[in-house]
Amino acid sequence: MSLFVTFEGVEGAGKTTQIVRLATRLRSMGRQDILVTREPGDGALCRELRQLVLDPPVGVSVDERAELFIMLADRSQHVAHTIRPHLDHGGVVLCDRYADSSMAYQGYGRGLDRDAIASMNQFATGGLTPHRTLLFDIDPGVGLTRQTHRTRMEGEAIAFHTRIRDGFQQMAAAEPDRFRIIDASLPPDNVYDLVWGAVQDLLGDAE
Ligand code: TYD
Repeated sequence: MSLFVTFEGVEGAGKTTQIVRLATRLRSMGRQDILVTREPGDGALCRELRQLVLDPPVGVSVDERAELFIMLADRSQHVAHTIRPHLDHGGVVLCDRYADSSMAYQGYGRGLDRDAIASMNQFATGGLTPHRTLLFDIDPGVGLTRQTHRTRMEGEAIAFHTRIRDGFQQMAAAEPDRFRIIDASLPPDNVYDLVWGAVQDLLGDAE
């Protein structure tokens, strides 16, 4: 049975390491059809889009709406060429950021119209919604100090990242069936136990 799980949160929440650990465990249980992917930036076109939006040419300031549209272009391409085909073949997709990031960053963070973003996400994904979304929750100040690389987003003021965290929490509260909140401030092994617990009920046919 196909399974689509997304991982969300502020910068430096430790999602990436945990996704790799989860994929490894699922493979060791016999599921070989696991795709680990991310937004933005998976595949040749999306790599270009990621570069444009996160590391634009020197001296270029990216308009907020343009930023949203580039994220949506990335998502449309990613869903059509990567995520949907894998799910259609019955695979598991573990995706580092997805539509909720546009709502959190461009909606709550930048202050763009959230109803419009919801419609645009719907349009970009054709309505493809994750079975489960793990929200890695951490104080953005702590997350940012963990980051080793810096993009345009990480250079934003702490207030921007705090709005994003609050936005994610509101989204999780509004959709409790889909979201699970993971305390990402805990040591990695404890976080991993929470991750495993948050997907286990979906893995009936993987065990
Ligand atoms: P990345 O280096 O992949 O960050 P992380 O490891 O925290 O996921 O950079 C992705 C950045 O893009 C991150 O700052 C969040 C941002 N982003 C948006 O602003 N909107 C979106 O829709 C997506 C998918 C990401």
